[in-house]
Amino acid sequence: MKRKHFIQSLSATAAGTFILPESLKAESTVDKKKGDKQPQPGYIMPKPGTPSHPHNENYWGVVASNFTRSAGFINLENGYFSHQPKGTLAQHVANETQINTQTSHFMRTVQQTEIEAARTAFAEFQGLLPSEVAFTRNTTESLNIVIMGTQWQPGDEVVIGDQDYGSMVEAFQQAVARWFIRLKVATVPILPSSDAEIVKAYTSQITPRTKMLHLTHMINLTGQLIPVVAITREAKKINPNILVVVDAAHSLAHTPVDMLELRNGGVDMIGGSLHKWLCNPIGVGFLFMKQKHIREVWPLMGDISAERTDIRKFEHQGTRPIQSLQTIAKAIEFHRLLGSVSKYQRLTYLKLLWIGNKQALENFGKGLGILNDPQYQANMNAVTDLMNMDSFKLQSPLLPFNRGGAIATAAVSGYTPTELANTLMNRFGIFTVGIDHPVIRGVRVTPHLSSSVADCIALNKAFTAICVDLIPHLEPQK
Ligand SMILES: Cc1ncc(COP(=O)(O)O)c(C=O)c1O
Repeated sequence: MKRKHFIQSLSATAAGTFILPESLKAESTVDKKKGDKQPQPGYIMPKPGTPSHPHNENYWGVVASNFTRSAGFINLENGYFSHQPKGTLAQHVANETQINTQTSHFMRTVQQTEIEAARTAFAEFQGLLPSEVAFTRNTTESLNIVIMGTQWQPGDEVVIGDQDYGSMVEAFQQAVARWFIRLKVATVPILPSSDAEIVKAYTSQITPRTKMLHLTHMINLTGQLIPVVAITREAKKINPNILVVVDAAHSLAHTPVDMLELRNGGVDMIGGSLHKWLCNPIGVGFLFMKQKHIREVWPLMGDISAERTDIRKFEHQGTRPIQSLQTIAKAIEFHRLLGSVSKYQRLTYLKLLWIGNKQALENFGKGLGILNDPQYQANMNAVTDLMNMDSFKLQSPLLPFNRGGAIATAAVSGYTPTELANTLMNRFGIFTVGIDHPVIRGVRVTPHLSSSVADCIALNKAFTAICVDLIPHLEPQK
């Protein structure tokens, strides 16, 4: 049967009533359920009443069991992207199955409804207006939309930080070559003594010609969280027309700060990735842009069908994996089950534990009222204070706690970053990543919700052994 005739036979009988051949009834059932996501098994959560204190493995061990760990090594490099909990992955697979079954029928009839549901869920999660949120593939794309779409004039200035993510630096460098703008680079203190010191590093670069200020909320090289709202406030006092753009790749769903707080603090645009700390499937980023700016920014991919003031003009991507967008609500569910404060405290604790600094661990335990808990004490006694080792150099601020989260970077004298990362992996079976950056050199360690107290103690012991080997040993006395 020719395709045209086949379609005609499907559409109507002579009497005008729709009759579906028996062979197609299965698909028909699926069609009727279009947009109807099959609920997937939920998450494994600790028994109600189990305390979620950050050192309590009875709680966090159950949370960790939601993830499939790689066999054969301890993964303490979770900064690239996050693995999904099994419940999220199951939902993702179900979504993909739905699309794989309904194919273009899904794309033509259900896709946009699903995207809008995801937009509403994510915007509500972060306290934003759906009309100010676009979905992209990642932070790199979100911020490239902003950098490439801004209407630059020769001589416009932009202030970035010396530890900003490489892709954004490259995007600005390309903008310099293309539009003859001027790039000014703030030297961000690695171990700042106060917020004011960081604020000044940025504001001292601002002039009446500054058009954009680009801030990396959590610096990926060190895990340092910079005071975005304080910087924004001071920057706008100097030049109220500055556009403040934030890279929130690592802060979204990692710290308890939501994007509304940044918006209310004067930030104009934000880019972030949902496949990092929200544990969403790979390939979803967001771009927040205040409504008043949308009109003036060109989309990266040509679009004239959406209104100039419609945030959707930034979503002209062609065919893309909608199943990752459909999974956002499920990923948010997992985050909410844990609570952003508990999650952040757990991640911070794991960092403090592998570093072993007694003062930080004591302050942290005291602050949460758990210092005298026997298990807290036992964990503390199981680790060596690496900061007492001459050869160990921490590159990340520890105190106050709100200057970071899970991520920290450390160097050991005499080791290149690659040598140190290789030693940790080959000798101790612990995976980290060597960072060799003009400003920061060391291995970056990023525990996650799938990590355990035992993993962090193992890393502490590995660093201790590496550092002890560097101590010149006295000959034993005869
Ligand atoms: C600070 C920062 N910005 C941007 C990115 C890029 O994220 P994505 O690869 O999701 O675009 C990263 C990735 O690690 C990052 O750490």
